[in-house]
Amino acid sequence: MSVVAADPAGIARAAQILRDGGLVAFPTETVYGLGADATNGQAVARIFEAKGRPSFNPLIVHIAEAGDVHAFAVAPDHFAALAKAFWPGPLTLVMRRKPASPVSDLVSAGGSTIALRMPDAAAATALLRATGRPLAAPSANRSGGISPTRAEHVAASLGKRIDLILDAGPCRVGLESTVLDITRATPAILRPGSVTREQIAAVIGAVVAGADDPSAPKSPGTQLSHYAPSLPLRINASAVRPSEAFLGFGPGAATLNLSPTGDLREAAANLFAMLRALDDANRFTGIAVAAIPDRDVGVAINDRLRRAAHQNP
Ligand code: TXA
Ligand code: MG
Repeated sequence: MSVVAADPAGIARAAQILRDGGLVAFPTETVYGLGADATNGQAVARIFEAKGRPSFNPLIVHIAEAGDVHAFAVAPDHFAALAKAFWPGPLTLVMRRKPASPVSDLVSAGGSTIALRMPDAAAATALLRATGRPLAAPSANRSGGISPTRAEHVAASLGKRIDLILDAGPCRVGLESTVLDITRATPAILRPGSVTREQIAAVIGAVVAGADDPSAPKSPGTQLSHYAPSLPLRINASAVRPSEAFLGFGPGAATLNLSPTGDLREAAANLFAMLRALDDANRFTGIAVAAIPDRDVGVAINDRLRRAAHQNP
């Protein structure tokens, strides 16, 4: 495995590896993705193997242009307005698969839908164009771990299992995309992200979110304990216990602070890197996290923190 800058030479090398069926980690505006040619079943199978990902958990397919959707999915009414408002950007749309789609069935984990997104990061767009294929890409971490927002994070968790890492520095958004199911009459947020429910509702009207309706659908991957650091994590902490690390938000003493000024977008961008930095058993026995307001992108931050706090049995 090597790490190369996302310059024209690095992009060309990465595109060649992908066309040959290899695995390349690449930066998007949200987190680093672990990419493979979505039309190559063997390459897609290698993603599941490298991540240790259960095969029932489907993958997001990344495309360079909104128009590419029509080769892979049946675009419902809301598609055009959503793509116009949010693409390129951190919104993933779940649609019905086209029966004749060249994308491997493994991407959909055997289901009849496909999740598509057009990322908003120069390196990702350049890579998609140079490869000339749709790229299946989950977050580039071992399944259940913390998503990577820097090339070093990818190297630490997947280094030996992949062919190349394209490095373009830290990701701007820092939290994974919002996943929206638009196969239903009232679209449903399957995973909250930095495109908020309010922003989506302003474009299409009614939206269902899992939090208001426990019977609402969820993505297969969102039911598990996830984003888990190895140390125990406590959320909504008002006071730190001896030997715990304190991850703060807003003014006040903290081991690290997500945003001293209480800015939720800044907190989202810092969340995963700071959780990784504090997840150090040589220094701490646990991580306590300050309460984060449950509005705007805070909804997505709290979703990740709740699942990080839920330890696997
Ligand atoms: O920001 C992101 O979305 C990043 C970057 C790399 O694009 N990718 C990402 O992928 O977070 P991953 O695999 O870590 O999370 C994808 C989520 C999972 O919860 C998965 O279950 C859901 O999307 N998903 C994928 N395809 C789906 C489908 N057809 N129906 C429902 N949920 C789907
Ligand atoms: Mg992930």
